[in-house]
Amino acid sequence: MEREKILNVKNLSMYYKLEDRDVKAVNNLTFHLYKGEALGVVGESGCGKSSLALSLMMMPNIPGEIVDGEIILNGKTITSLNENDIRKQIRWKEIAMVFQGAMTSLTPVITIKNIMLETYYIHMGKNRKKAMETIAKYIKEVGLTEDILNRYPHQLSGGQKQRIVIAMALYLEAKVIIFDEPTTALDVVVQAQIINLIKTLKKELNISFIFITHDLGVVSEIADRICVMYGGEIVEIGTNKDIYSGEINHPYTARLLKATPLLYDKRDELEFIEGSPPSLSIDITGCKFYDRCNEKTNRCKEINPSLKKIGDEHYIACVLRE
Ligand SMILES: Nc1ncnc2c1ncn2[C@@H]1O[C@H](COP(=O)(O)OP(=O)(O)OP(=O)(O)O)[C@@H](O)[C@H]1O
Ligand SMILES: [Mg+2]
Repeated sequence: MEREKILNVKNLSMYYKLEDRDVKAVNNLTFHLYKGEALGVVGESGCGKSSLALSLMMMPNIPGEIVDGEIILNGKTITSLNENDIRKQIRWKEIAMVFQGAMTSLTPVITIKNIMLETYYIHMGKNRKKAMETIAKYIKEVGLTEDILNRYPHQLSGGQKQRIVIAMALYLEAKVIIFDEPTTALDVVVQAQIINLIKTLKKELNISFIFITHDLGVVSEIADRICVMYGGEIVEIGTNKDIYSGEINHPYTARLLKATPLLYDKRDELEFIEGSPPSLSIDITGCKFYDRCNEKTNRCKEINPSLKKIGDEHYIACVLRE
């Protein structure tokens, strides 16, 4: 039986429309998220991870525009809905997100309770009893106690603040949750606690989620499948095993794995990848990783490879891996 896809993304492109050029931050992405699954999205800074997340929420930052493709959420093509319908039916209710750096933007002069109430009312209407019940439920769900509700954000630790923003992504009970770098600003101990929390939530609430990080070590802990992005495109997608067994990877993934302290084979030197990712506003004919690839051939300069199936759930965009 085919597994149910809660999210299906087809040829999605989102460009930042600058006066003189387009920044192609999301460039023709096709992938899906199964029901109950955790999909990790990894890649270096600037490769388009947050841009993808905001596109899935149908709220790209100005001057971003979804220029092509479809997002099908729970059977509904949300890319053809207007903003009004998205706001009423979809955003936060069907798909929700923990923004990158969200915990630092909790309004400082309002108590946690009032922050949570205000947001709840905006989306679900003003029903205080229902709202307080829901808040209490999710405060507990993220491992906090209700006494925290009367505090102000500055009276909370980083880990507690992160639990609050996670509770706020969950409490409208969306089917798909996106976590954008939820552990990046935290120390390693708190980072591990948040990862464990998200794992528990996955089991208990049966949510489907996308977990964005630049850290292949972190994502190996949590994701069923992993999508590797480079220069606004997907270069590899596969199961946790496909990616981490190291049997066959896109040259970029292979280099990322060797540059990840938690994962690298201790007999080898920890590597770094020289150079920097390509500009997203210049059209490149060949492979975008060409300049930095240590396996490149002349062919790679001519063809921009598309994803090719190399295993059950494993796809790689590289002419050397076909
Ligand atoms: N509002 C904007 N206007 C113009 N360009 C933007 C805007 N937001 C992002 N970009 C550009 O889009 C590209 C992708 O950025 P994005 O924030 O999606 O990357 P990221 O993978 O999330 O990076 P990080 O790991 O640092 O969070 C970058 O080149 C960035 O400069
Ligand atoms: Mg980002």
